[in-house]
Amino acid sequence: MHRVHNFSAGPAALPEEVLEIAQNELLDYHGQGRSIMEQSHRGEAYTKVDNEAKERLNRILGLNNDFHIMFLQGGASSQFMQVPFNFLSENESADYINTGVWSNKAIKEARLFGNVHESYNGEAEGFSRIPLDSELNFSEQSRYVHFTSNNTIYGTQFDHEPETNGIPLICDASSDFISRPIDLPKYGMIYAGAQKNLGPSGVTVVLIRKDFIKTISKPAIPTILDYRTHAERIFNTPPTFAVYMVNLVLKWVEEQGGIPHFEKLNTKKADILYSQIDKDGFYRGTAQKASRSKMNVTFRLPDETLEERFIKEAAENELVALKGHRSAGGIRASIYNACKLSSVEALVSFMDHFRNKYG
Ligand SMILES: Cc1ncc(COP(=O)(O)O)c(C=O)c1O
Repeated sequence: MHRVHNFSAGPAALPEEVLEIAQNELLDYHGQGRSIMEQSHRGEAYTKVDNEAKERLNRILGLNNDFHIMFLQGGASSQFMQVPFNFLSENESADYINTGVWSNKAIKEARLFGNVHESYNGEAEGFSRIPLDSELNFSEQSRYVHFTSNNTIYGTQFDHEPETNGIPLICDASSDFISRPIDLPKYGMIYAGAQKNLGPSGVTVVLIRKDFIKTISKPAIPTILDYRTHAERIFNTPPTFAVYMVNLVLKWVEEQGGIPHFEKLNTKKADILYSQIDKDGFYRGTAQKASRSKMNVTFRLPDETLEERFIKEAAENELVALKGHRSAGGIRASIYNACKLSSVEALVSFMDHFRNKYG
């Protein structure tokens, strides 16, 4: 079988073990003579998948049954709209920490619903860093503080939750979900598109604290967009195959040792990659050191021609999807949970080889 070292930012590499289980179960799910995709989302088999996935998330993150867990559609981008649709009224304010493209998109949607106060805007510094707590200022009676825990495009990541003095956090955790522990009591809500750390595209995991969902008080939210519609039950047909895959990934996460295992492994992978980048001036990290992401490692080479050659020669060596986001350029290695240490080691060794050849 042929598998490459896949550094895709998303949809990203999935664990091989998970793909193999899905392959084996595809035509005949647990002796039923049909796949999980080909049966009712109200039936016994799918109900079990849905329950298992939720129980696993509850265990892995230590949610203590304090959060409603929902598997929604429309990607993280829909959450940019759905969050303020539920939690922000015309006469209310919410704070948004602007650390780049994805935060910006969330801000644009929120402005359709209420007052948005930007607690920080990193644009002048090319979104190359995460703000210090001392730089954040929040509006009076803020409904919530929204932040993007990991900035997939710029390779920056919060290393701790922003200090909000009790205002509930709402987090777009699309690109670092279940990669490290989180300080749950600070959150009202966490959402993440599955396609980076959690499974295939098509499903978005939404966690809402049970006491925070009770604060929804707007009179006219369309049923499908009202979080309360989905909190206690499956409302309409969910993306069943995507949720099935998420459940398999979560099973794999537990078998590997859960978040403690991945936190250690992700730190190790990031450390060896950043040490290679910092060796001399040939490679240059784009994020400021204190803000570096353990999920998306972004760097430049001396010029764009060399960057193109790097991407091409890397692909010839089975190291794929290293091109930076179109708005940022350069190189980006996405090293989510399912990216193996051996893939990062192969990349680091290719980087040595490339520097020796062209440096
Ligand atoms: C941090 C972050 N938020 C939101 C999105 C958008 O997600 P989706 O395509 O699921 O709407 C992305 C996609 O890459 C992302 O990295």
